[in-house]
Amino acid sequence: MGTEMRMEADEPDAGTPRLEVGAGLEGVLRRTYGGRLEGVLRALTRPPSEYAIRVNTLKTTAERVAEEFGAMGVRCGRSAILEEAVVIYPGEPRAVERRGKMVVVDKFAAESVMLGSKLYEPGILRSERVAPGDEVFMADPRGHIVGTGIARFSSARRHTAGIAVDTRESVYSLPPVRESRLFGDGEIQEQSLPAMVTSRVLDPQPSDVVVDLCAAPGNKCTHVAQIQGDRGLIYAFEHSPKRLRRMRGEIRRLGIRSIRTAQRDSRYIDRDFPELRADRVLVDPPCTALGVRPKLYEEAAPSEVESCAAYQKQFLRVAARIVKKGGTVVYSTCTLPAEEDEAVVGYALDELGLELDRQSPAVGGPGIGGGRLGAAQRFDPDVSDTPGYFIAKFVRP
Ligand SMILES: C[S@@+](CC[C@H](N)C(=O)[O-])C[C@H]1O[C@@H](n2cnc3c(N)ncnc32)[C@H](O)[C@@H]1O
Repeated sequence: MGTEMRMEADEPDAGTPRLEVGAGLEGVLRRTYGGRLEGVLRALTRPPSEYAIRVNTLKTTAERVAEEFGAMGVRCGRSAILEEAVVIYPGEPRAVERRGKMVVVDKFAAESVMLGSKLYEPGILRSERVAPGDEVFMADPRGHIVGTGIARFSSARRHTAGIAVDTRESVYSLPPVRESRLFGDGEIQEQSLPAMVTSRVLDPQPSDVVVDLCAAPGNKCTHVAQIQGDRGLIYAFEHSPKRLRRMRGEIRRLGIRSIRTAQRDSRYIDRDFPELRADRVLVDPPCTALGVRPKLYEEAAPSEVESCAAYQKQFLRVAARIVKKGGTVVYSTCTLPAEEDEAVVGYALDELGLELDRQSPAVGGPGIGGGRLGAAQRFDPDVSDTPGYFIAKFVRP
């Protein structure tokens, strides 16, 4: 797979709405994008034209998955970039009319419903008086209507989990992937294309010891296991007990045996496990997630960009300590500001003694700033038909 591949997005037309962001965050993004910012903000309001799904090649093939989706009536195809990916098409956006009673949902739930997901109880912020069977429409806190459907919940007796609304109409119409047999039997995983590229760039060999410092919900480490044919040894560390439980469920669902999980603050892994030495380390830390699309609006403050960047550096410091000489560290984020991407890479080069390595597959564009940062891989939503993403690959000399 050593070829250079680019995925070009169609330039969003002038009629595409511009993402609502605060003035402070706009200033941060302008530092990264300059005159390109308008195109970036417009692209973020729309999903990529292909929604990627990873096939669990330990259990099946992309061909069989594409066939089964096709038999379900889902418009789907093989990815032109990764053999383990299939893609489904969210189609063009539709205006959704208010119908029935109003349910106001949080931004996260609204962005899922917008794509066609059902509404789950924890996403409800408030509603009119609703009984099971009522027709409802769902709106985000700023009043954008994202879908209509039939309520399963009662506003008089709210639960903490479970499906609250069966979505009937939504802005985009992705099929309910998580309710499919393929998902239930662990044959597929929802994962963006750049996220899959990250594990490919790590290039794990079958007998490698791999450490994932920020592992839940386990998308990348389960992909790494798949690439290794489930024959390696992966230590997947995660700080949040709730997210760790979810990851363990995902590992079971996918039928993977080579991952050892532990609840840890990974900033101290070198101290907790002084003997631990890894061939490859994955650093996929918390970030401001500004590349996730489609977005209804964005509320992150510039201070969050700064605090994420400071946090991200701490994981890279540990990665540089536990990786073997000649070993690989891959750093990734699903965000856009250079402060969390190229500047963190600069820290790893200048302060940690790591060196940038060439990436394969090369699907995105080069890092901003040129020079040595050209070896990083950036997926900018105005030019890549993918979520916004950043990947850097290092070697420890
Ligand atoms: C971007 S997510 C990782 C996604 C994951 N790599 C995947 O592909 O599914 C970042 C994760 O880091 C975890 N995290 C945050 N601080 C941490 C810490 N100090 N130590 C370990 N994990 C941490 C978060 O709870 C979150 O699950």
